[in-house]
Amino acid sequence: MNTRRTGTRRMSRHQIACLRLGLVCLSFVTYLWICGHWHRSTKWEILVDVLAESLGHPNFSNIRIYERDLPQHSLPRILYREMERPRYVFFANAVNGLGWNNVLQEQLLNAHLAHLSQRAYVFPDFTPSDHPPFPDKLPNGSRHLLHIPMNAFLSGPVAGGALSCDSKDHLLRRAVSEKWWDVLCPRSEVVVLNVQQTMLEILLDAASDGKEILTKWVHKLASISDPCVRVEGGSVFDYEFFNSDRLLSIWPSYSESPILENFAWSPLITAALFRNSHLFSADPPPPFLTPYEAGRTYGFTRFLPLPVSEQPISGLLAIHVRRGDYEAQCMLLANSGAQFCGWNALGTLPRSKYPLEPQIPTQLDMSDAEWREGGTLHHCWPSPESIVARVHTVRQDAVVIRGQKLKKLYIATNGDPVWVRNLIQMLAADGWDNVSSSFDMEFELEERAVAQAVDMAVLTAAEVFIGNGFSSMTSNVVQTRLAGGRDRRTINFW
Ligand SMILES: *[C@@H]1O[C@H](CO)[C@@H](O)[C@H](O)[C@H]1NC(C)=O
Ligand SMILES: *[C@@H]1O[C@H](CO)[C@@H](O)[C@H](O)[C@H]1NC(C)=O
Ligand SMILES: *[C@@H]1O[C@H](CO)[C@@H](O)[C@H](O)[C@H]1NC(C)=O
Repeated sequence: MNTRRTGTRRMSRHQIACLRLGLVCLSFVTYLWICGHWHRSTKWEILVDVLAESLGHPNFSNIRIYERDLPQHSLPRILYREMERPRYVFFANAVNGLGWNNVLQEQLLNAHLAHLSQRAYVFPDFTPSDHPPFPDKLPNGSRHLLHIPMNAFLSGPVAGGALSCDSKDHLLRRAVSEKWWDVLCPRSEVVVLNVQQTMLEILLDAASDGKEILTKWVHKLASISDPCVRVEGGSVFDYEFFNSDRLLSIWPSYSESPILENFAWSPLITAALFRNSHLFSADPPPPFLTPYEAGRTYGFTRFLPLPVSEQPISGLLAIHVRRGDYEAQCMLLANSGAQFCGWNALGTLPRSKYPLEPQIPTQLDMSDAEWREGGTLHHCWPSPESIVARVHTVRQDAVVIRGQKLKKLYIATNGDPVWVRNLIQMLAADGWDNVSSSFDMEFELEERAVAQAVDMAVLTAAEVFIGNGFSSMTSNVVQTRLAGGRDRRTINFW
């Protein structure tokens, strides 16, 4: 009896073991099937855009594949338990068509807001309608806008990169592309927040201060448990906000954000800097601009992203000379008594409401009346003579204050080529080893689409910088330089 009973027990244990093994195998196969199925059914195809091709637009197909295959884009959602399901926020009506720098400044702050709200940020493509770098008119006269993937510009957290530099961040918190949002968040599951209504609800208006806007929106977004939130009907941080000093009280929180601290230019931009590095330095390119041969899965990862925290390019002074259509804009600004915009105002003006230490020195010690009369124009639309004089002073100060010997000069500009050539001659006569400009850059097709950001990467990487305080491009360079830990005294204005 005992023996038989033991036998029976042994038999059943054996059976149970088999059964368990079977179950484990079965669930493993099911898991693989679900993963595979999910993978197949959610991976979007990279389609050929015939119209874009006919206009000669680059298709960024390697970057598109890279974006599609970001690790956070392939996790099978149905395997999450409810608690673990990631949460997202999509700012559907953030400004997009305007210039790249208006778009960028808002994307970065929205990403910071998403981060504080414990939601993954959703990043869109950039579709330039102002100053498109390629023709976009079809033969019948309608426009077919150029589409540039975010990862052609950037590699940091705002474009789906890691939120921490050791990559030990939570995958589910990383930004996702708008395409992946479409997969994850069908309309029926989306909670919609209208910007105007929400502002009424949380007691914000057009005069609210930046810190208050940020805090209240964080609270609102974090209080919603639904995974998919779409903010529409306007911008949380709109164009007027960026041109007011209401922005500045966000800086203490934003300057410590992983969004800004881990900001990096894309490998496409690193490649362009490498090809043109003779313009910036007589030395061989530094390691962070040198090709990286190990990971060749995607053509463009032969170069690494360029984090703003890299060492500056020694001996380089880079200046932003905004011209082109800017004269009329400068007149407008002068007539309205405008002050520096965006992050340019960081501690620059004695009149600033938020004197953050240490201050960025400027030439702006003028009275309001003087400022209105000639100050704005002088700083917004400087003459070639005043550019030469300012560059001279900044070079002298660099030696005196920090012992920096500046030798090469790079001019990021959209000016008339003849005017720029004349300026280069005047500057070269003042004793620079070498003076070059945006017109000397050699680009491949895809790089040409992001040429403005390539210039910004040079302005960020230079040892010393002079910019235009009224320009959002300069403002974005100011924030990336500060993010990279550059000394504030290396940031100057006309
Ligand atoms: C993208 O452009 C390249 C080069 O012009 C071409 O070889 C490739 O087939 C294009 N891919 C797509 C998906 O359009
Ligand atoms: C112009 O041509 C494009 C491409 O064939 C088409 O999609 C678009 O609707 C046309 N626009 C007009 C106004 O006919
Ligand atoms: C500037 O540098 C380029 C490339 O190194 C060189 O070809 C050119 O002659 C230099 N120009 C001057 C004025 O030194």
